[in-house]
Amino acid sequence: MKTSYNIALIGTGYIGKTHALAYQAVNSVFPDTPKLVKALVVDINEAAGRRFADQFGFQSFSTDWKDAINNPHIDIVSIATPNFLHKEMAIEALRAGKHVYCEKPLAVSIRDAEEMADAAITSKGLTLVGYNYLCNPILQHAAQLIQSGKIGKPLFFRGVNDEDYMADASVPHSWRCERKLAGPGTLGDLATHLISLSEFMVGEVASVSGHLYTAHSMRPDPNDKSSSKPVENDDVVSMVVEYANGAHGELSSSRIAWGRKNRLAFEIHGDKGSILFDQERLNEIELYCATDDAANQGFQKILAGPAHPAYSAFIQSTGHQLGFNDLKVIEVRNLLDGIAHGKPLYPSFADAIRVERVISSVLQSADTDKRVGV
Ligand SMILES: NC(=O)c1ccc[n+]([C@@H]2O[C@H](COP(=O)([O-])OP(=O)(O)OC[C@H]3O[C@@H](n4cnc5c(N)ncnc54)[C@H](O)[C@@H]3O)[C@@H](O)[C@H]2O)c1
Repeated sequence: MKTSYNIALIGTGYIGKTHALAYQAVNSVFPDTPKLVKALVVDINEAAGRRFADQFGFQSFSTDWKDAINNPHIDIVSIATPNFLHKEMAIEALRAGKHVYCEKPLAVSIRDAEEMADAAITSKGLTLVGYNYLCNPILQHAAQLIQSGKIGKPLFFRGVNDEDYMADASVPHSWRCERKLAGPGTLGDLATHLISLSEFMVGEVASVSGHLYTAHSMRPDPNDKSSSKPVENDDVVSMVVEYANGAHGELSSSRIAWGRKNRLAFEIHGDKGSILFDQERLNEIELYCATDDAANQGFQKILAGPAHPAYSAFIQSTGHQLGFNDLKVIEVRNLLDGIAHGKPLYPSFADAIRVERVISSVLQSADTDKRVGV
């Protein structure tokens, strides 16, 4: 078994920093994990990329992502660039036999995502997609509660994923507003997390009915403040879903929800109880069991602690709280352990393609005003 892996990170923006922090922390938090070597970082922005390389102690820096592919010493290629770049980078890395750790969503279209999933089937490299919320210890526990039958058969999932990063109509146009660079808007950016969580908790989505809405159809051109550019994708998405196991759900997501900073929240109602979660309070769930003594029935708050998967690697006391960046540390631990021990990674490209199919069905449903099978 290899005891050390060289990683190349492509993209040093918002989530690139969370990746680099996780690469720094993973061997300290999880000492039994194979050593991760920060071998190469790539960004087309040379000044920012070089600063980033120094800040995090990467061994080398490049402005050309193909250096990550062509370097035989790189074991893992991590893709943290805008969505339209994922496909080419991932497929080339897989063809070169690298393991690929790719940010969500997989791609800007279902066709591109399917090509990526196909490339993964024939590659010796493993794949992992950055649905980091699935790594939350308290959500791992929630999933175990559901599997153990604590709330009975899941009947209904109601979820939202709201933020306000584009609520201000004067936020300039960016790659996130263009179909060919981002794919769908909120649907691809935020609702993907919600869909992945809902499938993790309840099961596979079988059909959807979707509605999309663009509230701010023009945004200021960042290169010429006196003009504006069209927004080509959704600010808000709503969907009614049916799961293959017969459960139903209602999912909605917005990037223009003033005051909501990371409200990735859901309720799952089973035939014997309910579970509630809100990412803005990511260290707790609330559990209601209809089988409890009637005099004491009510929502019970469960705080994350050492009894929950991976939590104790960070701190020994319940309620002392993990944060968003810690979820990425757990994700990177999963990546390294999976690669070293040949354990299946979740969600791999083969798993994450399901989210892309749901997205594609929502787009089709919104276009045709009809319910669409996934
Ligand atoms: N898992 C999560 O919770 C999460 C959160 C935010 C973003 N993301 C995903 O991460 C990806 C990146 O999003 P972001 O918010 O970090 O974007 P960003 O715009 O902040 O950063 C993107 C970086 O990629 C660099 N880049 C662009 N083209 C490049 C190229 N050809 N070669 C090398 N570098 C290049 C840019 O210079 C920039 O530094 C997206 O797919 C997004 O959906 C995931």
